[in-house]
Order: sequence, then C-alpha cells, then structure tokens
Amino acid sequence: MKGKEEAAISIRNLSYHYGERNVLENISLTVQKGAFLGLVGPNGSGKSTLIKCILGFLKPQEGSIFLFGEKVERFKEWNKIGYVSQKANSFNTAFPATVFEVVSMGLVGKLGLFRFFKKQDKEKVMKAIEAVGMEEFARRNIGELSGGQQQRVFIARALVSDPELLILDEPTVGVDAQSATDFYGMLKTLNEERHMSLLLVTHDVGVMSDYVTDVACLNQTIHFHGNKEEFKKNKEEGLSGVYGHHVHVLNHQH
Ligand SMILES: Nc1ncnc2c1ncn2[C@@H]1O[C@H](COP(=O)(O)OP(=O)(O)O)[C@@H](O)[C@H]1O
Ligand SMILES: [Mg+2]
Repeated sequence: MKGKEEAAISIRNLSYHYGERNVLENISLTVQKGAFLGLVGPNGSGKSTLIKCILGFLKPQEGSIFLFGEKVERFKEWNKIGYVSQKANSFNTAFPATVFEVVSMGLVGKLGLFRFFKKQDKEKVMKAIEAVGMEEFARRNIGELSGGQQQRVFIARALVSDPELLILDEPTVGVDAQSATDFYGMLKTLNEERHMSLLLVTHDVGVMSDYVTDVACLNQTIHFHGNKEEFKKNKEEGLSGVYGHHVHVLNHQH
C-alpha cells in the first residue's frame, strides 16, 4: 500500500493485552498526512499503550500498524518521526544543560556523539528553538524554566531533525491552562505552516478540540473518530462512551 495516498499512521484491528489484562481491543485508526489528530481518553484508557505500539516499543498480539505505508516491524525511517513522551517535563533546577544543548541532543543520533557541530547544525538547532518561541532562552539552563517552557524545549528537540510526524503523549500535564493553550496554538502552527502530521494524546478535551483537525476518543476501544466538526456536533455522544454519561464539556472562550 505504498504510494501517494498512504497515511502517516494506519492501525488496523489492533488488540493489546498485558498478560490477562485486555487494554486495547480491535482498534482501527488513521492519521492522514497533514492531519492533526487529538486522541482523548481518561487515565488508564490505553492511550500510552497505543502510542508504544505505534512506536514499536510494544508488539500487539493482534492487528497491524503501518507507518508511512510500511509495517511497523519493517519500518526504518524513524528520523521521519518525532516523539515527546509523557515524562519529558521533569528536569530539575540542578540539571546542567542549556536550552541550546538539550535541543542539540535531537541531532546526536544523526551526527554521532563526539562529532563537532557544523555551522549549519547550529542553525538547525536555533531554527527549532525559534519554531517554539524560545529564542530568548537559548542560553538559559533548562532547569530554570517553567514546566510549559521546558515542554517547548522538548518539542524543539523533536523538531530539530525535521520530522514529518510528531507524536506527543500528554505534553501539557503539569502545565498551567494559559501555557497549555499557547502550546496547542504552537502545534497548530506547525501543522498548518509546515504541514507536519501530529498525533496529540491528552485527557484535556475541552481546549484541545479547538486546535486539532480530527478527534478520536479512546477507552479500550475507539468510541468516536471523525473530524473536528463532526466531533463538535456529537461531543456529548462521543465522550459519554469514554467518560460515562455525566461528562460536562467545558467550551473554551476566545
Ligand atoms: N507494563 C504494564 N503492565 C501491566 N499493566 C499495564 C502496564 N502499563 C499499563 N498498564 C495498564 O494498562 C492500562 C492502560 O494504561 P495506559 O496505556 O498507560 O493508559 P493511559 O495512557 O490512557 O493512562 C492501565 O490500566 C494500566 O494500569
Ligand atoms: Mg498515558
């Protein structure tokens, strides 16, 4: 199924269980090239497990995953994919690295650890830092920054190799509401201006849905998958499947 029409991510009939415990059941989900998919679900609904399957860290017992048209087991172009994990935002104030250095680590895989950076590598690092609006902080220690600022730095590190697909697992956990909103706006810009495909995992339904192009609701299985307009029309229905019937959806005011 290689060719122009291939999706960034295509998941078919995937099931995953840890021992006896079924966590994901018959998941089919597509992230088209150029889409910004918000994947929402409560804690324990299997979001991180699904991401680990997509990245090839876990092998599902059933079903298949294609990345850019290639089966994940055979996929080799990992430089096309940037990943920011849930636990990224945990640097403490003693961590001795500047923003510039942390972002540079995104190039290490490509360059080899002991190669000196060329001028053009430095420019790439600075461009990634600018893309997340952190240029003023490039020489600051990462530990001195707020959680939201640190998370931007981790995005920059993922961006420095210019991925076609960026996967983020709850990047705004522990970040205040205003910073989270700014952060979603930044992701929307990456999606629209760089045509980067994005998969954003979150349990923050209300605000996120203003920024994405598509929404999927997960709780062991997919309860809803559609574009943003369909989601907004069917919000209560889509969410009651994953959060129960008494969910109250907060609408974001601009
Ligand atoms: N390594 C593991 N072994 C056994 N159970 C696990 C493991 N990791 C996660 N789980 C369980 O699988 C379920 C889904 O977890 P997870 O994918 O982390 O959900 P989410 O990211 O949506 O919070 C939870 O009930 C969790 O306790
Ligand atoms: Mg998780």
